[in-house]
Amino acid sequence: MITVLGATGNVGSQVVRELTAAGVDVRAVARRPAVAAPGVRPWPGDLGDRAFLRRAFDGAAAAFVLLPFDVTAPDHAAHQARLGESVVAALRDAAVPRVVALSSLGAEVPGGPGLAATGYLGSLHDQEARLATLDAYVTRVRPGLFLESFLWSADAMRAHGVHADSVDPDVALPMVATRDVGRAAAAALLDPDAPDVVEVQGAADRTVPDVVAALGPALGLPDLAYVRVPDGEMERLLRGAGLSADGARLHVAMNRAFNEGRVRAHGPRGAADGVLTVEEWAAGVAG
Ligand SMILES: NC(=O)c1ccc[n+]([C@@H]2O[C@H](COP(=O)([O-])OP(=O)(O)OC[C@H]3O[C@@H](n4cnc5c(N)ncnc54)[C@H](OP(=O)(O)O)[C@@H]3O)[C@@H](O)[C@H]2O)c1
Repeated sequence: MITVLGATGNVGSQVVRELTAAGVDVRAVARRPAVAAPGVRPWPGDLGDRAFLRRAFDGAAAAFVLLPFDVTAPDHAAHQARLGESVVAALRDAAVPRVVALSSLGAEVPGGPGLAATGYLGSLHDQEARLATLDAYVTRVRPGLFLESFLWSADAMRAHGVHADSVDPDVALPMVATRDVGRAAAAALLDPDAPDVVEVQGAADRTVPDVVAALGPALGLPDLAYVRVPDGEMERLLRGAGLSADGARLHVAMNRAFNEGRVRAHGPRGAADGVLTVEEWAAGVAG
């Protein structure tokens, strides 16, 4: 049996699918219960509740763990530390021998004061450090930017006919579909020789305008354009969209790290990398 955190999310749901297809029973953890299915036992509860999590991990041969974001949290680092410490303490309490952790490209870079160096990714650096204190075999899965993160802006794209962000238009990034991230994580869970770090880069590095050009028609917006807004303006737009001031600041700081090349893959593309191209992914969104 393997315990999967974030089991109803983009990546976790794919991990559950892959594991059950391989005949592995799963405890599916999320606050809103996962749908019960053959091999899937919903395990509803909050990652901040260490005792609950310990029960979720008890007897597990392995665990898939992640640190969910809450872009409305007034203090992102404190929110992530609270959940991250709870997850690591519960893994230790239950003596889980094998852990595959969802992290990110750029998590090797310390966030520095106020997580200014890499924005949101700084809290994943800190979580990798916590996981390293476990007496367990830990694999960190470090994907590139999720293509699904563009869908968060779909309503704004429809309302304004543009996609606004603060990534420079000529910066090519390792964009990856979460389907491929989940596959790589499940493969690591099932591989007794998986490495300490698995990068998942996506089929090719692509720019934000590339994604917008593919996604626009899929959303019924053939003229969708990308607008690179100044950093301060982007923070204002994000706050208007419901992010906390801290969340907006960290989003823009992360984009600055993309623009300046501080978030990047370190290895060549390999077997763990995504295969879905941006265009194939967008066709799936249209479907
Ligand atoms: N977006 C990107 O481009 C990107 C790139 C690289 C890495 N990442 C990393 O990927 C992770 C997010 O993965 P994802 O996209 O698969 O997440 P997601 O789709 O947002 O799903 C989050 C999952 O966690 C559960 N969850 C949220 N808060 C919880 C809590 N307090 N207690 C228990 N369960 C909780 C959610 O279900 P409930 O809400 O029902 O609890 C859901 O199952 C983040 O750590 C992020 O750093 C993201």
